[in-house]
Parts: sequence; structure tokens; C-alpha cells
Amino acid sequence: MLINHAEYEAMYEVEERMWWYKILHIKTLEAISSHFGQNKEITILDAGCGTGGMMKYLQSMAYKEIEGFDFNESAVELSKTRGLNVKKTDILKVRQDFAASNFDVIVCNDVLYQFEKSEIFKILKQFSQLLKPNGLIVTNNNAFKIFSGTHDIAVGSKNRFVLSDFEKIISDIPELKIKKSHYWSLFLSPLILTIRIIQRIKLKLGLVDLKSIKSDVDMPSEIINNLLFKLVKLENAILKKSIFGSSLHLEIKKS
Ligand SMILES: C[S@@+](CC[C@H](N)C(=O)[O-])C[C@H]1O[C@@H](n2cnc3c(N)ncnc32)[C@H](O)[C@@H]1O
Repeated sequence: MLINHAEYEAMYEVEERMWWYKILHIKTLEAISSHFGQNKEITILDAGCGTGGMMKYLQSMAYKEIEGFDFNESAVELSKTRGLNVKKTDILKVRQDFAASNFDVIVCNDVLYQFEKSEIFKILKQFSQLLKPNGLIVTNNNAFKIFSGTHDIAVGSKNRFVLSDFEKIISDIPELKIKKSHYWSLFLSPLILTIRIIQRIKLKLGLVDLKSIKSDVDMPSEIINNLLFKLVKLENAILKKSIFGSSLHLEIKKS
């Protein structure tokens, strides 16, 4: 869970413009269309939808059947102001609130880091029950412990992942298989690493007020925002299988 209402307002405010979200929207769309082609009738669930930016983006791409849920009331309310079909549900009990074999796609971006591996197993197991045959889970997750910083504290992170973590969890769910995976952003890794190392040093020196700690979700100037977006978009176009970055993007297929 994010730390407070202000974090959700910050997300709501920037997620249609900030480079990070725009790239994540593009990556999710690419994963969906590479699996389902131009079929816009597919049913999509955004699990831990936050304030609804992804759902809004997919709507703008002509997908009509989109539902979402989040466990935080501020997130649900802010999503509803966007006119989205969102309800309050706990991802750990998601199977209770949605019918089996109901969705073609489940998007779950930057949610699983809040859970222990045994809980992630239970979540993915429930996702597999909610998916139709040939369904797809698209999930972005923070990667590599070396990238941890005050951001992780602000967003309540319990985990940073590597691919083998998901391979292990999924090996116990025979109906699921990792279809594609890549880390990103390789190009921005030096910058992100530097920022996070400075954050860790400040933490060690006691220079961080833990009560007012903030995530890195902050809109940069227009010029920097465009620059970062173009750089990561270029990476996305030319590097299909990057082996390093602060995020791990996964496409998991149901047989
Ligand atoms: C970093 S945000 C990501 C939001 C959105 N998926 C995105 O990509 O912008 C993590 C989200 O997970 C939600 N969350 C945390 N615990 C949850 C739970 N038990 N059930 C459902 N959602 C949960 C939080 O409220 C928050 O909105």
C-alpha cells in the first residue's frame, strides 16, 4: 500500500503525462496486442489499478471491456472520477470477487512487491483461475536489490525481483508459463542507481525524515520528461531482451 492519500493524488496527477507511466502503458499495450492481435473485444482486469491511468489508456486504445480493483479507498475513488469500472478488492482474496474464467488479460503492474513470495504464489494461482484459456498476465515489478532506496520504503516494498524468483513461483502453477520477460531501463540504470545510492547513504546517515518520506513518483520538467520518455522508448524499440534495469516486465501465459 502506498503511504498516504497524497501519494495517490500524486499518482493521479501525473500518470497520464509522466514518462514512466507512458512507457509502462506502451509496454502493456504491446504485450496485449502481441498476444491478441487487434481484437479489442477481450476482457481486461487491472489488478491493483491504483488511480486508473492504465485503464484509461487502454480505453483510449479502443478496449471496451475493462475492469479494475484496488484495496485502497483513495485509489478506488480517484479511479471512479475517471469514469472507470473499479471496486475495492483485496488481491489476496481476488477469486472471491470475480467469476472464474472471466478475463483474457490481467494487468498487475507494480503491485506484487508488497507481498511475500508465498502470497505471490496465491495471487498468481487465483489469477490463473480468473483467466480464460490462452489468457495472459502482464506484470511489471521492481527488480534487483541494488536499486533499492527511499522510494522502496515510501511504497512499502518487501521485494525486488529477478526472473528466477518468478520462474520458481510459477513452476508450482502448471497452467502458467512465462512467455516473455525483460528488464528495463538499461539506458537509465546509471542515473537511477546513482539516485538510489545517494538515498541509501542519506538513510544510513539518518538524514531522511521517515515520517515524510516520498516515492520517486514526481513529475520532472517538461524537457526532462520528454527526454526520458524518448530515451526509454528508443530502448524499448531496439532492445527487446535487456538483462538489467530497475524493473522486470513479464508476460505470463495460461495454457
Ligand atoms: C505502486 S501502486 C501501482 C498502481 C498501478 N498498478 C500502476 O501501475 O500505476 C501499487 C498499488 O497496489 C495497491 N494494493 C496494495 N495492496 C493491495 C491489495 N492487498 N489488494 C489490491 N491492491 C493493493 C495499492 O493500493 C496501490 O494502488
